[in-house]
Amino acid sequence: MTTYDIALIGFGGVNRTLAELIAARGEALNSELGFGLRVVAITDLRLGSLVRPEGVDLPLALNLAGSETFAEHGGSADTNNESVIRTCTADIICEATFTNPDDGEPAVSHVRWALESGKSVCTTNKGPVALRGAELTSLAEQNGVHFEFEGAVMSGTPVIRLAKKMFAGLKLNAFEGILNGTSNYVLGRMEAGLDFEAAIQEAQALGYAEANPAADIEGYDVQLKVLILANELLEAGIELKDVQRKGISTVTREDLRKASQEGRRWKLVGSARRNPDGTVTAGVAPTALPLDHGLAGISGATNAASFDTDLLGPVTVSGPGAGRVETAYALLSDIIAMHAAKAGAAAHV
Ligand code: HSE
Repeated sequence: MTTYDIALIGFGGVNRTLAELIAARGEALNSELGFGLRVVAITDLRLGSLVRPEGVDLPLALNLAGSETFAEHGGSADTNNESVIRTCTADIICEATFTNPDDGEPAVSHVRWALESGKSVCTTNKGPVALRGAELTSLAEQNGVHFEFEGAVMSGTPVIRLAKKMFAGLKLNAFEGILNGTSNYVLGRMEAGLDFEAAIQEAQALGYAEANPAADIEGYDVQLKVLILANELLEAGIELKDVQRKGISTVTREDLRKASQEGRRWKLVGSARRNPDGTVTAGVAPTALPLDHGLAGISGATNAASFDTDLLGPVTVSGPGAGRVETAYALLSDIIAMHAAKAGAAAHV
């Protein structure tokens, strides 16, 4: 059976959960998926780096005591990201460091180092995909490896691969979606009578919110996701500045009450549409949707994306858009896709 050696770059919630899945369900995963996974390197800003070509002791790595780093266990207190990524024996790099919306760094470099050294990459990080997606995809092609990023939009809920793989023969003209769980949750709680600050605090306590809540509330998170979907699915060739952005901080409880009386509901909608001249208009803005609109009933932290296709009309997928397990599953789904592509290529030899 094939075993893929993987390196975990960033050992926060997402990669840690992937490691837990492998530790707890490794054997079952092998028989279900037809391949095994072995972690051969971990790097983390706080914990340092640990490289073990024969396989990292996952229970040990997952259960370090409070102030311990990998240095106490034969690793290093430094992350050494470039040297670990370039020289470790991993086939696949799982990149799950923080999203930097300005230039995507250091994640862009992590992905680049991996692809240049002939390693495939899966990431849940919006930064490199939104800001350097085309360049990194082409670098992956040049090096004969994969660059997968399903988790960058709507965590493990299939959106990017769904549209790329399952919409063959359809023309996709536009999409609209609820792509941020925190803002959707906040709007729902405000409708129920909570004030804005209290609703945000609840979302933070539930673990949906970004470290900087402005990313959720002011639409920056959705702006990156719209950019990713527009470029990946509509081949828009646009940049961040081309995605108009307005968040929900100006929506008041009075607005929500008035909308409800008029049979409408406020949602933060991210969308993109191909114009007759071939250009693409993309943006994120709070919108009072009529209740019979497909996105009006999406509640809580749930996300949804509705694709406007020529032959089927709107095709909508809804599901989680955040969460440790849900996002770790996105990485697993990326590796499954890489394995399927390899098996498909082998069948055609
Ligand atoms: N903070 C985001 C949300 C999740 O609330 O949907 C990660 O993109």
